Amino acid sequence: MTGELTALREAAEAELRKAGTEEELQTVRTRYLGRKGLLTGLLRNIGNVNPAERPEFGKRCNEIKEDLSARIDRLLAGMALKKREEALLRERIDVTLPGRGIRRGTLHPVTQVREEICRIFAGLGFSVVEGPEVELDYYNFEALNIPKNHPARDMQDTFYIEENIVLRTHTSPVQVRIMEKTKPPVRILSPGRVYRRDSDISHTPMFHQIEGLLVDRGVTFGDLKGVLTMFLKQVFGEETALRFRPSFFPFTEPSAEVDIRCVMCGGRGCRVCGSSGWVEILGSGMVDPEVFKNVGYDPEEFTGFAFGLGLERIAMLKFGISDIRLFFENDMRFLEQF
Ligand code: FA5
Ligand code: MG
Repeated sequence: MTGELTALREAAEAELRKAGTEEELQTVRTRYLGRKGLLTGLLRNIGNVNPAERPEFGKRCNEIKEDLSARIDRLLAGMALKKREEALLRERIDVTLPGRGIRRGTLHPVTQVREEICRIFAGLGFSVVEGPEVELDYYNFEALNIPKNHPARDMQDTFYIEENIVLRTHTSPVQVRIMEKTKPPVRILSPGRVYRRDSDISHTPMFHQIEGLLVDRGVTFGDLKGVLTMFLKQVFGEETALRFRPSFFPFTEPSAEVDIRCVMCGGRGCRVCGSSGWVEILGSGMVDPEVFKNVGYDPEEFTGFAFGLGLERIAMLKFGISDIRLFFENDMRFLEQF
């Protein structure tokens, strides 16, 4: 039996010396060490060996097995290394080939517009703040002079979480939160998501607003008009037609909404502007004295203006996008254009 083992090992070694390729090495491995291999067969039939010699026989078998296996591994590694070295010598890098372009992402058009607006107002000394999207009824309505059962609550179809907790319907609650914890003068800008039960070509249930608030001594409606006009001309260009239209908000008095000449139809009337030729992009007004009282500001000493603008509307007009829903479908063919 031991003689058989020695012969087997010598035969295997002779074959290994002859093997010149990976395949040949693998064949040797299978022939001797595989599941139906010669050495494996000897081990399986260990029962035929004289019991006294069995431990020694088993040990020898395993030694040969490990030894053969390690040698095959070494030979394979050596071959792989050689192959790699030859390839390196053979291959040449053609430095004149053009590079492969990297596919770059772009910022979402709504993000681009938000950043541009924040930059313009930063230049006027406004700082950017944020408020919660899940908001107390008090901040979203009550403190903004919209008591329960006030008809103005119907202007914005609200998603209620609980009786006194809502998904904020506008960014105006941030005004109150900021004034509660800071003394005037105040100059803030607050971008964020807002939610309303609203859905068609120019309305989506979630959209973005930016709130602006400026409070100081002696602030007038003329300041409001001047700041908003300057800002809108910077975003849309000097020639863009704007109009300030009298409006109503419970938290501002007087109030105005600002419309922009519809860029989709040049004012002739289309689906986007609802055939009016104008698109409403923001609401604004002088902060109502009632709101100042709610946050402990003296309305005799301070005045201020506030505005809330719809980011998607501005992006639609700026980029000529005719359907607000495109912003939220995340179709790459749409997004790649900006
Ligand atoms: C307001 O939300 C007031 N908070 C704005 C305000 C702030 C007035 C401060 C005075 C002082 P309004 O509901 O009109 O107002 O919305 C403001 C802007 O958000 C609109 O001009 C419009 O551009 C945009 N908007 C309103 N509803 C939607 C909607 N469902 N989808 C997309 N944009 C909308
Ligand atoms: Mg409005």
